[in-house]
Amino acid sequence: MDIKVLLLFLAHTFNIEFMCGIVGYIGYRDAYPIVIKGLHRLEYRGYDSAGIALADNGLKVYKKAGKVSDLEGFVKDVKLTGTAGMGHTRWATHGAPSDRNSHPHSSGDRKLTIIHNGIIENYGVLKEALIAKGHTFISDTDTEVLIHLIEDIQNVTGLDLREAVRLALNRVVGAYAIVIMNADEPDELIAARKGSPMVIGVGKGEYFIASDATPIVEYTKNVIYLNDNEIAYVRREDLLIKNIDNTVQTPYIQELELKLEMLEKGGYDHFMMKEIYEQPRSIRDCLRGRIYPTQGLVQLGGIKEYVEKLKNIDRIIIVACGTSWHAGLVGEYLIEEYARVPVEVEYASEFRYRNPIITPKDLVIAISQSGETADTMAAIELAKEKGATIFGICNVVGASIPRLTHAGVYTHAGPEIGVASTKAFTGQVTVLTLIAFYIAQQRGTITQSKFVEYLTELNEIPDLVEQALKSNEQVKVIAERFKDSTNCLFLGRGSSFPVALEGALKLKEISYIHAEGYPAAEMKHGPIALIDAEMPVIFIATKNSSYEKVVSNIQEVKARGGKIIAIVSEGDTEVKEMADYVIEIPLTGETFVPLLATIPLQLLAYHIAVMRGCNVDQPRNLAKSVTVE
Ligand code: AGP
Repeated sequence: MDIKVLLLFLAHTFNIEFMCGIVGYIGYRDAYPIVIKGLHRLEYRGYDSAGIALADNGLKVYKKAGKVSDLEGFVKDVKLTGTAGMGHTRWATHGAPSDRNSHPHSSGDRKLTIIHNGIIENYGVLKEALIAKGHTFISDTDTEVLIHLIEDIQNVTGLDLREAVRLALNRVVGAYAIVIMNADEPDELIAARKGSPMVIGVGKGEYFIASDATPIVEYTKNVIYLNDNEIAYVRREDLLIKNIDNTVQTPYIQELELKLEMLEKGGYDHFMMKEIYEQPRSIRDCLRGRIYPTQGLVQLGGIKEYVEKLKNIDRIIIVACGTSWHAGLVGEYLIEEYARVPVEVEYASEFRYRNPIITPKDLVIAISQSGETADTMAAIELAKEKGATIFGICNVVGASIPRLTHAGVYTHAGPEIGVASTKAFTGQVTVLTLIAFYIAQQRGTITQSKFVEYLTELNEIPDLVEQALKSNEQVKVIAERFKDSTNCLFLGRGSSFPVALEGALKLKEISYIHAEGYPAAEMKHGPIALIDAEMPVIFIATKNSSYEKVVSNIQEVKARGGKIIAIVSEGDTEVKEMADYVIEIPLTGETFVPLLATIPLQLLAYHIAVMRGCNVDQPRNLAKSVTVE
């Protein structure tokens, strides 16, 4: 079965939803250019189909399977006017990608239209009941059921749309961020959220609505992050926010730190490459104001109120998914090594479905670039119920996870648009390093002179990352040689094992080459059987405590004819003798190797994917984050 069909089948069967993007505008300008530009900015969240609705003598709806550019092509000869509108870019769940299943979806009388990010879990029951009452459905989506439910409530009760929406939202189970337009009241957009993100941009005589701030930032810096269970009634000169129980809420307007240039490719061919090259800067930003090398001091304002707690915790549980989980594994090495607190690292999706033993003396650290990953959020809720203290490590400021956790530390990597996480990973590892040192500082597990030494070295990491990026041309040559491989093995020991996992994930997700990461010593317990003359094996073989052991593992692969690519420390001679290709990274202490060794692996995945003609920033079947289980 084609992988895409398989994923769609799984998504449909198990209610797996990936992230969609929604955007809305009401004001005095033409809505279409704002909406379509917004959809381009949000396309990283899903790109199976796109659609728009404009209030222009009634509601005009246009939608198309494919990318936002396909939708643009579809409407290129249409005169699109109207100063209120909305748009959607979709990652298909209920119903395969098609024009018919694209958003917006309309009520039976076509007067109401809706866009939706999330999933209505009880849509099956609601749909049956609506069909029994005479409703007919055009699409296979849960979203169409919601707009029919709203229509039905209006028909039965005679209530206005505001009230009908509120009652309908009280009846649905699941997650949503929605925007609704009404042909009879074209001067109002109704937006609501529960479990899916939504931001409202506040302009003068205009409002913007979006899944994140990226479509908004070029028009206004003032935003309101809608909370769960809030409904916003948005008019040109007026915004009213109510809770789902109908109580009026006072909106909190925040100023965006985001800059427009952060959302552009800045001369690079792909966002991923731009983001790889941003790492010296992003790590520097992450360290800024947090380390004082000469004093041997780490300061983390976001968690400083928990200093006493940190002295007495029994255990740390790290929960995360994907790349963030790999960062968590690096964190385990660092925290146990320096702070001497036992650490467990859990896939958030597994953690939430067992009955984990958690006590109030546990600290749970949730790691998430987007701050919106549903499984990570559910794991946080579970740990909270059991009385644990929860810290978040997130990149997106104001996202759901920073608001769910007791305290936290931002990575400050800036917007990450490429689906493959790069600078977010090194940001997470940097923050985990800081947390390990911070806890060590509170618990007195490192001497002051060692602190000075470590922090001095950490302070140099951005420069060393810059040097590691110089391997780009050499990595390109290796990529050319191995671009047609069908399998690839990544091996490392200690904290380089998670780096191997991350290298394998990068390669598979953007180049579609099957790749596995393994602890180097485990290779003899199975994967060694895979090795033949066609198999590239990538070793992280830097100078550290397990160097000699890794050298033995390299010999084992060599003896079986495998092709060896080794990431080595500058000046290495031993591995150079054995490996087919070596990539040097600057010499650094063992603690900081993951931050450097990751760089050539990101570059390797990038170049192989480009050479294979893959869509690097928007790999098939993926979206930037997974907002429902
Ligand atoms: C990795 O390149 C992916 N983007 C993916 O594994 C990602 O790390 C995972 O979905 C978790 O996302 P989060 O960090 O936003 O929670």
